Amino acid sequence: MHRYERLAEQLRERIQGGYYQAGDRLPSVRTLAKAHGVSLSTVQQAYHQLEDAQLIQARPKSGYFVCQVRERPVLPPAGRTAQRPVEVSQWEQVREGTCVLPDTELYHLGRGMPDIDAPTLKPLMRSLSRVSRRQNLIGLNYDTLHGRPELREQIARLSVSQGCRLRQDEIVVTTGCHEAISVAMRAVCEPGGIIAVDSPSFYGALQSIRAYGMKAMEIPTDPEHGISLEALELALEQWPIRAIQVTPTCNNPLGYTLSAERKRALYALAQRFDVAIIEDDVYGDLAYAFPRPPTIKSFDEDGRVLLCSSFSKTLAPGLRIGWIAPGRYLERALHMKYVGTGSTATQGQLAIAEFIREGHFEPHLRRMRRQYQRNRNAMLDLIGETFPSSTRVSYPEGGFMLWLECDPRVDTVALNQRLMREGIRIAPGVMFSATGKYRHCLRINYTVLDEPVKGALRRVGEWVGEMLDEQPAAVSAAALPA
Ligand SMILES: Cc1ncc(COP(=O)(O)O)c(C=O)c1O
Repeated sequence: MHRYERLAEQLRERIQGGYYQAGDRLPSVRTLAKAHGVSLSTVQQAYHQLEDAQLIQARPKSGYFVCQVRERPVLPPAGRTAQRPVEVSQWEQVREGTCVLPDTELYHLGRGMPDIDAPTLKPLMRSLSRVSRRQNLIGLNYDTLHGRPELREQIARLSVSQGCRLRQDEIVVTTGCHEAISVAMRAVCEPGGIIAVDSPSFYGALQSIRAYGMKAMEIPTDPEHGISLEALELALEQWPIRAIQVTPTCNNPLGYTLSAERKRALYALAQRFDVAIIEDDVYGDLAYAFPRPPTIKSFDEDGRVLLCSSFSKTLAPGLRIGWIAPGRYLERALHMKYVGTGSTATQGQLAIAEFIREGHFEPHLRRMRRQYQRNRNAMLDLIGETFPSSTRVSYPEGGFMLWLECDPRVDTVALNQRLMREGIRIAPGVMFSATGKYRHCLRINYTVLDEPVKGALRRVGEWVGEMLDEQPAAVSAAALPA
């Protein structure tokens, strides 16, 4: 830990412990530097870090002040799931939602799309054009199956901040995290095999289970505490599960982050029942807290964790660059990668490697985390103002997605159809279930929150209200006149 991180941690504890209250002015940079025997820039860095976490705020010419702490909204309860492995359906819903052109006329509030218009991405565009202008032909050639060493070197370097120290030769570059997950599944499970998943769950992973003829064992998952370890243990006792597939950090769609303690406990369960863990960490670097939460992979002693990730959410999904660190399953994973897509396209890999090497990745992440956290707060306020009061919303500590649970009378598939007539789309909850549950839920994206997007969100709230008015609550029999 650097000095400024230690200092930030001490200040965070004082703020969270109530020693400094909302609105209090913090000591000046000079005073704090003197008191702790550190340089002015160390204090400034510590204050920047707390600003990033939205714990404090700088006021011009006045100093740093403690922010108002937000209260968590009322969160949706954990979903009820089938207590047996099931075949995955819902492809039609997923197809419908993912085969739309990213039309600028359409407010696609349901997409898992980062803000690709950020100025901190400009150096990436420059790297891309430099890579394609260079005279050598590496960018047009086949790559090795492992991926470009320049990129794997950078991924290995970044893995330190995730709590694990990956070596270059443990990493295989993939065509997005999507491919990483499907490689992982085929590396550890045969057709007919069972994979345990958190529920609701990322539809890409569910549809891979379907496509490979496997079955999903959905485990109830709470938007605050994450996948139920008790239910998972019961399922492992009862069924021959081959792997646990989870997104334990900045989960999509619920937004939960499993605590380090629960990640360790999940790993211990996997060891006890000798199953693999497919860990999707695609949003992990977008956690608002610093340092970011560790991956389950960082507790991996025997290579049973297959860590999957990509630059799709941190940089740009169009580059289609991801990776897998498959642990003891490396040889199987390489084979599955080979039969799936062969090697990954080269130019994007070279450009991303250059972008990271030149030091642009961290400042970009810093900016995006701040933007997304700010937008989360603003969107929660807007939902509070415009949606019926029965609506419950998740409270993500990272990433850029909210999960909404409406009154059970609201059918979000029908809601989406009505909204599409106005050029607005949401992601209906059924996409995130193996069997079409969560029909009254929806996911929305808060990467950008300009006036048109706010207007679109207000329309969603109004429609939810209208759908409720169309179907008045059933009057209880007891309340009916005799
Ligand atoms: C949780 C999760 N995992 C994986 C992916 C797929 O990522 P990629 O675009 O890198 O294939 C997504 C994209 O939506 C996602 O939300």
